[in-house]
Amino acid sequence: AGADALRADLAGRRVVVSAGGTREPLDPVRYLGNRSSGKQGWALARVAAARGADVTLVAANVDLPAPFGVRVVPVGTAEELRTAMVAEAPDADVVVMTAAVADFRPATVAATKLKKDSASEPGSVPLVRNPDVLAELVTKRPPGQLVVGFAAETGDETGDVLAHARAKLARKGCDLLVVNDVSGGGVFGRPDNAAVVLAADGTATEVPHGTKDAVAAAVWQAVLPRLARPPA
Ligand code: CTP
Ligand code: CA
Repeated sequence: AGADALRADLAGRRVVVSAGGTREPLDPVRYLGNRSSGKQGWALARVAAARGADVTLVAANVDLPAPFGVRVVPVGTAEELRTAMVAEAPDADVVVMTAAVADFRPATVAATKLKKDSASEPGSVPLVRNPDVLAELVTKRPPGQLVVGFAAETGDETGDVLAHARAKLARKGCDLLVVNDVSGGGVFGRPDNAAVVLAADGTATEVPHGTKDAVAAAVWQAVLPRLARPPA
């Protein structure tokens, strides 16, 4: 943190980061969720604040204390995360979506606890699609704002990790896509991470295997030269 503070290269910048994983309720006590811990988004927020940025962290079910100097907006569902991000993003210089947003949610939420012996017991759970927050933020972004996405990918018979990631970057329309290769097992909940930062201009920067703080620093290094406007 000492070294970060010495280089206040994000001073005057407003940054909005989403972190964690959304939970989509089935009834008052149950949800569909995912294993995202929020540690990578937390590291991005912490490092940005240490480097002088004004940071808001939209945190979906993150069980970590607020990083020093960071404003935290807690959310639960994808719809809540969307509402918070759309409200926070307009005056940001950089928006980073590390949150694992559930692609689908239960079509209906039972008002009372589902009972296994009732007639309403579901044999299957009908799902509907959640909004794509990143795509919406790209569509609505003001001139000069940088939008950064994250993707955990595995290679398969249709392409390797980077091929999938390049296609996703193009599809989403964001400026940077940080890609984690999760073929070899989970990164979820672990303190370390390895990544490639893909840019819409075609460059790919490999981040050596390191801590999530190191990945965060590499993301901010990729962001800095691409910031158009001078700091406020
Ligand atoms: N994302 C989002 N809203 C969604 C789904 C994803 O904003 N409903 C964002 C994530 O925060 C991440 C990026 O989009 O920054 C990529 O997420 P990912 O799940 O890899 O993309 P999808 O388009 O959902 O593709 P896939 O079918 O591979 O899950
Ligand atoms: Ca997805």
